[in-house]
Amino acid sequence: MNKLKGIKVIATGRALPKECLANSDMEKLVETSDEWIYERTGIRQRYRCVKGEENTNTLAVNAAKDALLKSGIDKNEIGVVVVATSSVEHVFPSTAAMVQKELELDEKVFCFDLSAACTGFIYGLTVARGLLSDSSKPYALVVGSEQLSRLIDYTDRNTCILFGDGAGAAIIKLDDGDFYHVEYTRGNDEALYIGGIGGGERYLQMNGREVFKFAVKALAQVIEELLDAAHKTIEDIDCVICHQANERIIRSVMRKYAGSEHKFYMNIENYGNTSAASIPIVMSELDDKNNLKNKTCLMAGFGAGLTYGGILASI
Ligand code: UT7
Repeated sequence: MNKLKGIKVIATGRALPKECLANSDMEKLVETSDEWIYERTGIRQRYRCVKGEENTNTLAVNAAKDALLKSGIDKNEIGVVVVATSSVEHVFPSTAAMVQKELELDEKVFCFDLSAACTGFIYGLTVARGLLSDSSKPYALVVGSEQLSRLIDYTDRNTCILFGDGAGAAIIKLDDGDFYHVEYTRGNDEALYIGGIGGGERYLQMNGREVFKFAVKALAQVIEELLDAAHKTIEDIDCVICHQANERIIRSVMRKYAGSEHKFYMNIENYGNTSAASIPIVMSELDDKNNLKNKTCLMAGFGAGLTYGGILASI
């Protein structure tokens, strides 16, 4: 892995739906309990879009507006907009095109959606970085936005307690800091699956145990590979941002890094698994606490596909 031109995060943002479902609300929908959900997943609550008012587009737009407002940049200097999502509001136009419309961005902008499930934001940052190297404009807007709630069967306790809706966004530019990335895809359509316009199961199907085992190995592999490539150890890293799918998955991985457990940020308690939005929502929370910019971060994600990957960067 060669050292590449890096990225600087200029600003971040996030958006959440109005409706918040606590575990006690899930108890009214399926046979479950707050105790079971919290012990097995670390989740206390999740957000869900209000039908007819909120969706993947509105969340993406609001997260992007939040980041843009904080950035202080001229929005016409944005040359790339990537929205990572698996829950598009329309087949077309893309979510990214709707972000361009609502933010009233210049027409000269490379806008598209990216589908890599929960690894989408990681893929999106790397793709945006590559496109910026070839852009006449300095900034890229990368968003992760999901309304998985409408692809979830709220009578299936194996899945409905896990997922939430939300969006996160980051505005980046090229920089000289460290940047290393890895991506993998296994071509698996069994562990996690949602049908689409070609038919198939309309609601999310998941083999939880299989995904759990895969996730622990995938995150550990990605973290080690990135540290090796950068000739760093966990001591050199300021924060580790893992996809928030299950607190037990993250705890299994961080066990290996005794003394650095505090670097593994977790917020799944408040949001559940927001798929492609989970990593940028973490980023925006860290940013609010002044713990993101000018830090060396290691991000790692996994999801349907089975995709997995990560980034080690001084951002
Ligand atoms: O972004 C990637 C997306 N997905 C993931 O990352 C999922 C990864 N996997 C997981 O997070 C965990 O496998 C789950 C949280 C989904 C499940 O936890 P688990 O410890 O693997 O439970 P399990 O599937 O082995 O089920 C244990 C028991 C079963 O009952 P029996 O067969 O032992 O009688 C389930 O029917 O727990 C039962 N169960 C529940 N009980 C209460 C499953 N869901 C629930 C529920 N409430 N919501």
